[in-house]
Amino acid sequence: MPATTLEQVVALAKRRGFVFPSSEIYGGLQGVFDYGPLGVELKNNIQSDWWRTNVYERDDMEGLDAAILMNRLVWKYSGHEETFNDPLVDCRNCKSRWRADHIKGKCPNCGSTDLTEPRPFNMMFKTQVGPVADSDSFAYLRPETAQGIFANFANVLATTSRKLPFGVAQIGKGFRNEINPRNFLFRVREFDMMEIEYFVMPGTDEQWHEHWLEARLSWWAGIGVPRDQIQVYDVPKADLAHYSKRTYDLMYNYPTLGYQEIEGIANRTDFDLGSHSRDQEKFGLTAKVIPNSDSLARLTYFDQASNRHIVPFVIEPSAGVGRCFLAVMSEAYDEQIVKAPPADKVDAVAQALQAFLKSVGRNEKLAAETRDALLERGEAIAAALPEALPQIETLLGMPGADQIEVGKKLRGQAQPVADEHFRTVLRFVPKIAPVKVAVFPLKRNHEGLVGTAKGIRKALQKTGMRTVYDDTGAIGRLYRRQDEIGTPFCITVDFQSLEDGTVTVRDRDTMAQERVASGELESYLREKIG
Ligand code: GAP
Repeated sequence: MPATTLEQVVALAKRRGFVFPSSEIYGGLQGVFDYGPLGVELKNNIQSDWWRTNVYERDDMEGLDAAILMNRLVWKYSGHEETFNDPLVDCRNCKSRWRADHIKGKCPNCGSTDLTEPRPFNMMFKTQVGPVADSDSFAYLRPETAQGIFANFANVLATTSRKLPFGVAQIGKGFRNEINPRNFLFRVREFDMMEIEYFVMPGTDEQWHEHWLEARLSWWAGIGVPRDQIQVYDVPKADLAHYSKRTYDLMYNYPTLGYQEIEGIANRTDFDLGSHSRDQEKFGLTAKVIPNSDSLARLTYFDQASNRHIVPFVIEPSAGVGRCFLAVMSEAYDEQIVKAPPADKVDAVAQALQAFLKSVGRNEKLAAETRDALLERGEAIAAALPEALPQIETLLGMPGADQIEVGKKLRGQAQPVADEHFRTVLRFVPKIAPVKVAVFPLKRNHEGLVGTAKGIRKALQKTGMRTVYDDTGAIGRLYRRQDEIGTPFCITVDFQSLEDGTVTVRDRDTMAQERVASGELESYLREKIG
């Protein structure tokens, strides 16, 4: 069964070290996460694939890595000081603070409707620059990487001699002081962004906007987020960002959250280059820019055909790496029956689950919302047994579940059945899998098997495929561990290997095994991984 709730994905991400809460040893920091040993590999693979597709495989792109700190004036003329606001309300009853458009007039903490009027809250973080702390010595942590590209437009143009249309790609950190960070990596305060600013002749912008929409959908499909899981939302005029003439939001169907923005593709017109430019009045700008008396540069392009300086329009595809990470994990997630569990065992689990739900329903110490969430989840699992059986562990990890005594009995019934009859598998597209190959010796105390397996690991790692060695359990258990982190291929070195130089290669998805000569492993795997 694919992931039906975000909790399943979050639980696996935590359990297997994809993602950790930041500064957990001190109680964490809300809205900030660290990527663990597997997470950093997955994130790097996503970013490399984005870079390869958008920079190396096109002939109209350059790359850039601009600094996070920029002159404050960038954020004045970009419009962010004035407009990068979310509507903030206070609950007068419990003193908590919320984003007005996320709570439908009722405090999610205490249920009160006694809220203040919404007021704008600027989401840019400030930090002090230099040793003197006065009102002028601060800078913002960038809320988007895009401005580093606009501020370097003239530098890139001068050093590359590019002709329109061309684009600049950048991957880097963005920071937003979100009022209520939530839903794991979905809404956080520090995150990585993958952004393209694509500069085009005015008048060709709408056609390039459509081009980028298709190009981006095709990239998403290529990393395992299929077209039918994404809706294209044509943002209504009233909701457009201050710089946009038209924006397509790509809305991915996240488990639990439903369709939510994963990427924005905006037509930023000539707003940004125009706003940051000196002599603005000379260029016939279409956007309503902020009058600029501070800029030292004209951010223009000399068009030989018309023999004049123009300000290009910009199409901007912009995606958050964390939201991509979450989508890729959700799509890859699968709980699969490997051996049908016997009916009597499933019945016993079903009865234990009913007893658990009855006890939840009767428990008056639980808050109404906690009780409803447990009941809703538990009833959905009960209706989908036996396929949903592994989800019982996630149910028992939900808030309030630890207060239900019969939960222990339910775990005792469900866990052995889940372990024996199911496997959790991340069916990543091989090119983004954190580990490509795992190598095991059939026996860990046999010198010949261990030496051969370690030699294969080393040789494959040298080819650039992330390869790990493991001998810490029985082969079946080792397969399950690799399935759970999405490793597409496992190699086992057995006694036949020592005689004829072949090894078994097991495919993650089909679980089929094939014997392959050690000398042919690299080409065999390369062809499969792509
Ligand atoms: N330069 C354009 C721009 O910043 P945006 O729609 O505000 O546009 C782009 O952000 C993308 O960044 C979003 O589509 C989303 O994937 C990601 N993103 C935005 N805010 C985020 C947050 N607080 N946490 C995680 N990702 C976020």
